[in-house]
Amino acid sequence: MPGPGAFLVGEEERREVEEVMQSGYLSRYGREDDPRFKRKVVTLEKLFAERTNCKYCVAVNGGTGALMASLVALGVGEGVEVLVPGYTFVASISAIIAVGGTPVLTEIDESLTMDPEDIPKKITEKTKIIMPVHMLGNPSDMEKIMELARKYNLLVLEDCCQALGAWYRGNPVGSIGDVGAFSLNINKTITCGDGGMVITNNKNYYERAFGYHDQGHKPLRMGVEIGSRSLIGINLRMNELTGAFALGQLKKLDSILEILKKKKALFKKILIDANIDGMSFRKINDPGECNTLLTLLFESSETATKVAEAIGSNPLSGSGWHVYNNMEQILSYTDRNGSRPYRKNMLTRTDDILSRAINLSIGVVDPGLGASFGINILSDDREIERKAEEFIETVRRVM
Ligand SMILES: Cc1ncc(COP(=O)(O)O)c(C=O)c1O
Repeated sequence: MPGPGAFLVGEEERREVEEVMQSGYLSRYGREDDPRFKRKVVTLEKLFAERTNCKYCVAVNGGTGALMASLVALGVGEGVEVLVPGYTFVASISAIIAVGGTPVLTEIDESLTMDPEDIPKKITEKTKIIMPVHMLGNPSDMEKIMELARKYNLLVLEDCCQALGAWYRGNPVGSIGDVGAFSLNINKTITCGDGGMVITNNKNYYERAFGYHDQGHKPLRMGVEIGSRSLIGINLRMNELTGAFALGQLKKLDSILEILKKKKALFKKILIDANIDGMSFRKINDPGECNTLLTLLFESSETATKVAEAIGSNPLSGSGWHVYNNMEQILSYTDRNGSRPYRKNMLTRTDDILSRAINLSIGVVDPGLGASFGINILSDDREIERKAEEFIETVRRVM
């Protein structure tokens, strides 16, 4: 069940991919003096950097890889603590562990993103990074987060995997902190099947992210640094076919966001006009959000559970992929000191909010996010009205 970009795959992507097939160059590296080499990945990096107002960009194999390369770029390794919210996809947490760091879980607030109030309570002398996650397309409270980062001398990595295209106070998400990481998997705003992007304005972070993604090489692997590679990297490279597909999708990003904005506004207006007692909407930190989902908050978890059951869904506390309580591999993780840092119900505010929250799909139709009921980017006004009325009737019946 995909995100909006996946619904709109067509001629643009086909043309881009066919050019690569005709060129014979499948790797991101090719002979620069051969006009047949189309440089799709490099072009994608350039256009993505432009769209996100950043100087530098590295295309990688996925959002998880983008997070790992970003964390290494910022100097995360053994013993370094990274603050990350307990409501996120498991990859935000496992990427930190994979590069040797220690995730420290923070609460969320009613925007369903990192609660800035909880940040100072979780900082220790080992903390180096704050990693807000722009969950469900909604930017985190970046003003407060950046203020705290400055106050405590911390770096900020924005996990933008669910929020490509969102704006916060006039800035694209990912360009506000030190580094931004994006996913182009099938559920995201735009997709190439699997892919990821890292953006930054800092040359050193760029070189380190690039090096980690490709065996320690300096950007664009010109060969000159052989013998003086400073970083141990792995292979997270994007290939030309994937880059070409992503280029076709990137051209559609702004129209996707425009369409979703209108569809969500109509759906939400019908629910607002119904004036249902005890039902409200999550806090949106900036109207520049992606509008991929509509998140509702009920006064009690009992009501949320009843409503969710009636629409064949779960309250967000039961959306298995995105809640720390449901990540058995994280809860059973034993660190180098032999202790288990994570346990069920350790984040009481997060647990309360998620038990009262329900997602309706607008552009991302994903049962893993608790969003199997709702509309998609192809829904017309009649279908939106029908779905909204169906939802209102259901809520009135069970409440
Ligand atoms: C918030 C968040 N971070 C990281 C990821 C990982 O991205 P990918 O699946 O492309 O590795 C995802 C993907 O679902 C995500 O939603």
